[in-house]
Amino acid sequence: MNTLIIGGTTGLGLKLAKRFKEGGDNVIVTGRKEIKEDIEFKAFDLSSPELARRINDFVVELPDVDRLVYAAGYFQEGRITDLSDAEIEEMIDVGGRGLIYFVKSLLSKQDKLDELITITSTSQWTPRQKEPVYNFAKAGVAHFSNAIAEDGRVAKVLVAGPAGMRTEFWEGIDRDDLNEMLDPSWVADQIIDLASEDYKYRFARILRQPARVEIIETR
Ligand SMILES: NC(=O)c1ccc[n+]([C@@H]2O[C@H](COP(=O)([O-])OP(=O)(O)OC[C@H]3O[C@@H](n4cnc5c(N)ncnc54)[C@H](OP(=O)(O)O)[C@@H]3O)[C@@H](O)[C@H]2O)c1
Repeated sequence: MNTLIIGGTTGLGLKLAKRFKEGGDNVIVTGRKEIKEDIEFKAFDLSSPELARRINDFVVELPDVDRLVYAAGYFQEGRITDLSDAEIEEMIDVGGRGLIYFVKSLLSKQDKLDELITITSTSQWTPRQKEPVYNFAKAGVAHFSNAIAEDGRVAKVLVAGPAGMRTEFWEGIDRDDLNEMLDPSWVADQIIDLASEDYKYRFARILRQPARVEIIETR
């Protein structure tokens, strides 16, 4: 399979890239920071202007993509009035619009996609006063992906919502529970297992304390 991982330069996206590559896929990862691993990297900044056009231009140059993994995201904390308009727009671009336009551009070009894997968060279903736009983005991409599973051109959709993981996501943030967070390698293994079965749509929560997987819906 040709697998494209948006947000695959670090953390969970990079672990998934390694797993899919070990399984024989041709893998391309995107992000802003070049990676040292032996995985094909293409720079793509989700926070720059003209996102829809740039995504389309990027996709047109790619070989056909069979599996799209959308793992891009970053931590943002603040009540809605604490966030600047630019911060709100950036979270919507990186967390939401990016997925919408990658799916749109891929389907416009190829007319089919074998698999979509969307990484959300517990913030998909847990409202948090200090994460309103992250809540918006994660809930939105989850339901968008669910709707895309109804589009006959997309064969299979997995929405995976992990709890806290020990990744670069928390860089520069003062958290005293990092050691209790999930190992992103373990989370990647759970996602590979969840994706290995036959279905049209699946939503699973990947939780901690204890580390476990709860499959909420499969159809
Ligand atoms: N870590 C957690 O506790 C946790 C918990 C629940 C859900 N999640 C979700 O899990 C997913 C993976 O996160 P992670 O923990 O693996 O974090 P991570 O290591 O920080 O990885 C985030 C990825 O997103 C990319 N990215 C972020 N902003 C971008 C931008 N403006 N343009 C292009 N790429 C951008 C990063 O690439 P560059 O830095 O190279 O741009 C990186 O590849 C995210 O969707 C996150 O919301 C994380």
